[in-house]
Amino acid sequence: MPRHKHELIRERVRKTYVDDQPGGVALPTERALAEEFGVNRATVRHALSSLEADGLVYRVQGAGTFTVGQTIAKSLKLTSFTEDIRSRGMVPSTKLLSARERPAGDAIGRALHVSTAEPVVQLTRVRLANAEPMCIEVVSLRAADVPDILAEDLEGSLYDLLEGRYGLMVARAEQVVTSTVVEPEQAEMLGVPALAPALQIRRTSVDARSRPLEYAVSLYRADRYEIRFTVRRD
Ligand code: GLP
Repeated sequence: MPRHKHELIRERVRKTYVDDQPGGVALPTERALAEEFGVNRATVRHALSSLEADGLVYRVQGAGTFTVGQTIAKSLKLTSFTEDIRSRGMVPSTKLLSARERPAGDAIGRALHVSTAEPVVQLTRVRLANAEPMCIEVVSLRAADVPDILAEDLEGSLYDLLEGRYGLMVARAEQVVTSTVVEPEQAEMLGVPALAPALQIRRTSVDARSRPLEYAVSLYRADRYEIRFTVRRD
């Protein structure tokens, strides 16, 4: 049970304005909260600081206090976006921004073990959870692996399509995580301010025989994603 008044207010604010809210929702002003709960503003401020310290809200100088929303913890298990979102009881969806064939070029060629001229299919997709954008993914596949894929529905699970239609099964992936910021045109697609922090995850997925299947660069909202893993002393 909360012992101090600010703890009590913190819990009431959390239940009324924070729990189950998506990210970026503005809380009422300190003054309004003080009135609503019949306490002084210092108590409200204390309660908000405590919610902020626990990462449940964030404050923007001069603009107010906003919900952080639920974060998605990515573990070391190899999962698809669809699986990640469904396992949290949310509904995944996808907006296809572009789908085209192009020569692999240097970086993608190296990742997929093909020459720079080899055609690859490149899909750029915004991935959403409960209709809220979570990440932008640019996936490259060897065109020879996925004939006629551009005629398929590319707004569902790519892994389901690779497995169901082409018999391609991702067994392992090498991933590199780096921190970055969101460029202005990406910001609009992700519904975050320009230069908001983001996690970039580059994934090279291989099949059971270690043949590269996919090279994906995903830009995850840092206010929505965290990476969790176990470290062992042995
Ligand atoms: C994750 C990976 C991508 C992969 C995608 C497949 O988001 N970072 O590399 O392409 O999952 O997810 P789905 O099968 O839902 O399209």
